[in-house]
Amino acid sequence: MSNSHTSYGDAGFSQFIQSAFQRHLGHGLEDFEKPVIGICNTYSEINRCHSHIKPMVDAIKRGVLMAGGTPLEFPTISIGEMFTSPTTMLYRNLVAMDTEEMINAQPIDGVVLIGGCDKMAPAQLMGAASANKPAILFTGGPMNNGEHKGKALGACSDCRFFWQEYKAGTVEEDEIDQINERLAPTAGHCMVMGSASTIAACSEALGMMMPGGAATPATANARLHQAQETGKAIVSLVEKNIRPSDIMTREAFENAIRTLMAIGGSTNAVIHLIAIARRNGIRLDMQDFEDYSCTTPFLANLRPAGKYQMQELYYAGGIPAVLKELSPLLHLDTLTVTGETLSENLAGIEVEENYKDVIRSLSLPLHKDGGIAVIRGNIAPDGAIIKPKAASEHLLNHKGKAVVFTSLKDMEERLNDPDLDVTPDSVLVLQNGGPVGAPGMPEAGMIPIPDKLLKQGVRDMVRLSDCRMSGTAFGTVLLHVAPEAAVGGPIGLIKEGDWIELNVPERKIELLVSPEEISRRQYEWRPPAFTDYNRGYPLLYRQHVLQANEGCDFDFLLPVSEEGEENEKL
Ligand code: FES
Repeated sequence: MSNSHTSYGDAGFSQFIQSAFQRHLGHGLEDFEKPVIGICNTYSEINRCHSHIKPMVDAIKRGVLMAGGTPLEFPTISIGEMFTSPTTMLYRNLVAMDTEEMINAQPIDGVVLIGGCDKMAPAQLMGAASANKPAILFTGGPMNNGEHKGKALGACSDCRFFWQEYKAGTVEEDEIDQINERLAPTAGHCMVMGSASTIAACSEALGMMMPGGAATPATANARLHQAQETGKAIVSLVEKNIRPSDIMTREAFENAIRTLMAIGGSTNAVIHLIAIARRNGIRLDMQDFEDYSCTTPFLANLRPAGKYQMQELYYAGGIPAVLKELSPLLHLDTLTVTGETLSENLAGIEVEENYKDVIRSLSLPLHKDGGIAVIRGNIAPDGAIIKPKAASEHLLNHKGKAVVFTSLKDMEERLNDPDLDVTPDSVLVLQNGGPVGAPGMPEAGMIPIPDKLLKQGVRDMVRLSDCRMSGTAFGTVLLHVAPEAAVGGPIGLIKEGDWIELNVPERKIELLVSPEEISRRQYEWRPPAFTDYNRGYPLLYRQHVLQANEGCDFDFLLPVSEEGEENEKL
């Protein structure tokens, strides 16, 4: 058993006292001569996306035992999107720290991390990268489809779609109640290609999850079998001493970015992949995402940008089938948690004829380029992102007058004011919703269409903010504007009535105000005086969080060289 002694300044006594406690649960001391596998059980009745994972933990343990290891379950923080205030992103780094420290501090040789809901898997991969003991990510899997009037319902694209229709008056009270009951019909995480499904898919492409792990439904027997196989695989990884740093290489991240583009995945993945890569000492920047977006066809016909959901993707062959179609563009010699290369994992995989509309081929893609575009300009010198395929075609090149909300609270108070000077051509701007400003960069970037415009039939407008949006959301929404308003970014200088031009084909966002006027506003700008979240962990967060284009990790969690310097590659 590695790293096994609590320090008492007496190695013999440490061994003696530890042996006494190793006998708990009926273990014999010989059990600890075998590979000891930690299973990070993130079961929670509040994080609903993890409420079903107990049988999976049992199946992982079974696999570990079958392979000759000793499984030991332990808890870490578990956060779910719907019940974490003010936003789970505020706590992603806390989960990452918890995960890293527990992997490091406890006497385990390898670990299986059970993720699922949006921020869990990225946090766990960040922690696993820094700890660098053999590790495999396993997620709880997506929910089965809901259904309404013969059509599949998807959490949470349809949460947003039907709520908007309800507010517009096209859906009645009893219908919205029925939809609500069916939106999340089984255990599991959101079943569209939102952030949870995206990160799971990228984890397969990275090589940190067993093949097929992303799309298998939470309720399928096959998922329990995958859990068992994961238990076997982690023992083998320990025996071969294959560590996250052997798997999460630059090439593996390039595969993950290509996969993100091919599945039209969540914008949140941009932040998470940058953060995970940096933990591995690998610098990804916004330009990498733009470059791979331009050269990766969009293959997976999945909501919110396409037609189907995770259930159909599963039957179509899951992420291995996507990777197979994408394989001419991938690095195939990257190592994975199976102990084999991506190429070896994909041998024999193919998309069946019946599912060719779910997973398109490179020669017949859904779109010729990828699902995320990086936009720059005087409003976003360090970049911003948009999902063009989930936006309205007629708004991709648009000029409009700004309607500015200076905070989430301001937006909530004034958005539906009947006197608000807003038209369908306006550009809705939300300031101070970034990592420092909010804090935690909440998913408020899909600014609601004002009720009075909804009732006129308006369903989309150009919106921009330093916030994020849910991976299940949609619309002509420019996100992650960096630097954010709260640290002096130009988005904070926009004033009511300013003209703004968005040109997605040219990847530009411009504030149409003279450079002199911008300089004058910059000179007058003062940092906000925060009156909330000003102690404890949220204060630590505000003081150390990096900007969106840098992955929103804490500056003190980046790797350092042996001399104690920050890794110069970062
Ligand atoms: Fe957990 Fe959507 S709420 S994945």
